[in-house]
Amino acid sequence: MNSSTSALSPNVSVLIAADPYSFAAQTIADAAKTAVESRGKFTISLSGGSTPKKLYELMASPEWASKIPWNKTEFFWGDERYVPSSDSSSNFHMTQQAMLSKVSVPPERVHRVLTEKEANEAAALYDQEIRRVVPTGPDGVPVFDMMLLGLGTNGHTASLFPYQPGLHEKTKLVFAEEIDEVKMTRLSMSVPLINAARQIVFLALGDDKASVIRDVVTGPFDPERLPAQLVRPSQGELLWIVDSASAAKLPEGIAQPAQ
Ligand code: 6PG
Repeated sequence: MNSSTSALSPNVSVLIAADPYSFAAQTIADAAKTAVESRGKFTISLSGGSTPKKLYELMASPEWASKIPWNKTEFFWGDERYVPSSDSSSNFHMTQQAMLSKVSVPPERVHRVLTEKEANEAAALYDQEIRRVVPTGPDGVPVFDMMLLGLGTNGHTASLFPYQPGLHEKTKLVFAEEIDEVKMTRLSMSVPLINAARQIVFLALGDDKASVIRDVVTGPFDPERLPAQLVRPSQGELLWIVDSASAAKLPEGIAQPAQ
């Protein structure tokens, strides 16, 4: 990834899905099955924003709900807006409305950011909760089974925004930061935690994402400007789930049709 040639790293794939939400749901269901069979539970970090809402609604639908091991899944969020959890801009709130309120998830398996606390305390508590629930890898960093990410048109992912100090956070798993660009405090998982995941999935759809996907995936490495380029799995796989619109500006040979 991020090479000047068109070849992707062997652990990176870009798949164009005719039905990206079903494909993403199947990807999650498959990862969950493998995780539960081999480790007894499935740990997933969810993305926020608008793109995943339809995915979460689909996962809670009668067609898919039976395919997700809800009672063995530990739900976290890759980032959160520093607003009350009842606020309409909260990623937890969006997920609760779209999915969690419609399925039977034991409340102790839903790990929201405690935004009622002071921001840095909320980040430290989330860091502790992740360490309590998510098994760590050889380097002491918790290893999520699935890290679902979105991509902003400015190249941000989670709440890793261009030119922000948080891009360089190497020790904390979670940090709070005032984001100038959106004029709000955000909490975000750090790059080392994101990159430790077994499977990282970007779900980036629509023609407004076509340029940024091309720049992130095939453009020069410029992570201050394009923080999503910092997402490089240390051990796992990176999958981009795109649609024909968001893949439209990728050079030949980069994206393959999803099977
Ligand atoms: C958030 C998200 C963020 C999101 C991108 C894309 O809190 O906003 O976690 O990283 O994934 O901004 O958002 P859209 O899906 O709305 O384009």
